[in-house]
Amino acid sequence: MLQRDPYLELLKKTLTGYVFPESAWALMEPRDGERSPKAALRNRVLRLAGRNGIRLMKANRFDPEKREYGEDWPSIAYTMVGLKRLDNVQDAIRQVVEEKIPGDIVECGVWRGGCAIFAKAALRYYGANDRILWAADSFQGMPKPNPDKYSADTSAPDLSNSEYLEASLEAVRANFQRFDLLDENVRFLKGWFGQTLPTAPIDRIAVLRADGDLYESTIDILINLYDRMSPRGFVIIDDYHSWPECKRAVDEFRGSRDITAPLEPIDRMAVFWRVSHR
Ligand SMILES: C[S@@+](CC[C@H](N)C(=O)[O-])C[C@H]1O[C@@H](n2cnc3c(N)ncnc32)[C@H](O)[C@@H]1O
Repeated sequence: MLQRDPYLELLKKTLTGYVFPESAWALMEPRDGERSPKAALRNRVLRLAGRNGIRLMKANRFDPEKREYGEDWPSIAYTMVGLKRLDNVQDAIRQVVEEKIPGDIVECGVWRGGCAIFAKAALRYYGANDRILWAADSFQGMPKPNPDKYSADTSAPDLSNSEYLEASLEAVRANFQRFDLLDENVRFLKGWFGQTLPTAPIDRIAVLRADGDLYESTIDILINLYDRMSPRGFVIIDDYHSWPECKRAVDEFRGSRDITAPLEPIDRMAVFWRVSHR
């Protein structure tokens, strides 16, 4: 049963930008694939503005339901996952603490860090600050899809040039500090998952949150970290119903390991399952 603690509730609303209607405004970025004269003009204007330190925003109307379900990309916010997925993180941490399921908390794909910041707050709230919180990311945005190696990513959008999706390690560290939630038990793994995760010094995992969107990113997370999961630990997949490439990676992985634990819905996009191996 989810505990509605005022501090954690306020954190959720702050980290998601729910308390700032202007967070619905969207950064306008040049779009490479488009060829029409109108698109070319748009791109020229945006590039010229960008070179002069000007950012243009589309003034979208704030939709509380979208933010609750993590279905828009907030401009000023620390996380894009929405309130329900933060509820899920809180409840997963509560359960692993109460059920004494050993292991660290790992988020792969942290962007500005908001969901990981919330996980850290929940660890402290439940008296489990001795568990390490791992935040893994390139800290330079999304990789370019590589369909030659991962054919499942053939139709995936190329977001590797998105300024919006970039958040540096220094910026994420500063975000943890702003909420007074940076200490020696927050550890960062900087680099592409395929390179950092195989040798990451993580022993056991109680909660694994995969938020890398692409097939390549999701399969790299599962192949490299799944065997370190504690029995009854939580595997949370942020993009299962929003990125077909992610769903395919998860379905293939579960099939290859005969994982039959049911996928539980979190909201309209994310799912989790509880590990039953060992
Ligand atoms: C959708 S965002 C994550 C959102 C975040 N969990 C939040 O709280 O808002 C995806 C993140 O995954 C990272 N990413 C995706 N694929 C990656 C990969 N293969 N290696 C490292 N980082 C990756 C991107 O840099 C980006 O920060």
